[in-house]
Amino acid sequence: MSEYVIDDRDMPRFKVNRQVMTDPEVFARERDRIFEHSWLYLGHETELRKKNDFKTRTVAGRPLIFARDNTGEIRVWINSCPHRGAMLCREPRGNARFLTCFYHGWSFSTAGDMVSMPGDDSYSEDFARPDLAAPPRVDSYRGFVFVSFDPAIVDLETYLAGATEYLDLVCDQSESGMEVLDGTHEYSVKANWKLLVENSVDGYHAVSTHQRYFEMVLAARGKLDPNALGESRGIDLGNGHAVMAGSPTTEGLFGRPLSEAGTADRAARFDRLRERYGDGWVDRMQGNRNMIIFPNLVIIDLVMGVLIRKIDPISPDYMEVTAWELAPPEEGGELRKQRLDNFLTFWGPGGLASPDDVEALETCQVGYGGRKELGWSDISRGMNKTANSGTDELQMRAWWRRWNELITGEQLPPEQQDELADVLKAPRQSPNPAQATV
Ligand code: FES
Repeated sequence: MSEYVIDDRDMPRFKVNRQVMTDPEVFARERDRIFEHSWLYLGHETELRKKNDFKTRTVAGRPLIFARDNTGEIRVWINSCPHRGAMLCREPRGNARFLTCFYHGWSFSTAGDMVSMPGDDSYSEDFARPDLAAPPRVDSYRGFVFVSFDPAIVDLETYLAGATEYLDLVCDQSESGMEVLDGTHEYSVKANWKLLVENSVDGYHAVSTHQRYFEMVLAARGKLDPNALGESRGIDLGNGHAVMAGSPTTEGLFGRPLSEAGTADRAARFDRLRERYGDGWVDRMQGNRNMIIFPNLVIIDLVMGVLIRKIDPISPDYMEVTAWELAPPEEGGELRKQRLDNFLTFWGPGGLASPDDVEALETCQVGYGGRKELGWSDISRGMNKTANSGTDELQMRAWWRRWNELITGEQLPPEQQDELADVLKAPRQSPNPAQATV
């Protein structure tokens, strides 16, 4: 049995040893066994709109250049000069035909080829001019670009397993392709990175932790329907990915109310999509979903906004977080305004929800100072049911079982659950090829 996870189906009880939130050796093992052997999110293709656009990112400790080359192809390079190591791009973003190292002036195209090196007559004639280095594997799924530092890893779609269905539910919301909007949220949390993984798929905390936010929504709307979220379930998507999915609602519990015109604009877009994908699938799109893609990518789709969140572990008690907003380019002005407002007021680092989450996670981390006397956290909620709800914790347990497998080698079977209600599993009609542009 693992020293870190207790998965007792008879009790039933699921516990996680708090040592995994504080121990530098566990942290080093996560780097080695998880981040060296997973597909890791880098960015979205639409962040690079023009040829020769680039962004710089850090993934699994590697400085990377995320670029579109001069033919329009997406490229990923290690952001380190082959000469003596200086970073080629020191800016977070830009557009450049050539990536020139400021140290001695070696220069490369965005396609990675060396273009020039000052004073090259001081090198022998057979000196092999080095090109830029790349991560061993780069692939994308519907615009989401991932890298892996394991050359032997399975292909991305196999790795994503059941998560592809929920990415499709997000990506199909636009007739022309969802795009990442300009601007990011960047913040840090003095807590272990796995606490934000848990929090991102935790429906149980919403009402108590985010009371201020719901009071704001209540003040704007005048009423909140407690049944508005309808059916919801935590679902194990395989390979450590999991989702908390809610059925469609006319109103939901999130965001300021739309005007009649804004409501009609949203309904018209979804109605056009019905012809392409069928009613069941489009109804599902209008539900909500909080998904974790193992290990550290979160997609939160609350209809009033779609958040992409990348969680970067820095040390056992410190993480950095980057978030982007994903949107259909064709939505009208009011919907865009509401989306940006929600991105700021709900998810923003100075908004009405994220600071409460940060406070909760940081107090957990402080609380782990007492782990000698209180050594285990409980994640058992809903284990006694064959049809859990979104406020239960199955989705966290699914993630933790994969974590446990990679860290300790112990394999734990998934939980048996009843079939999902139709409203949570309606399939996507194949798009009419004449209409499919995405
Ligand atoms: Fe880049 Fe020398 S380190 S040119």
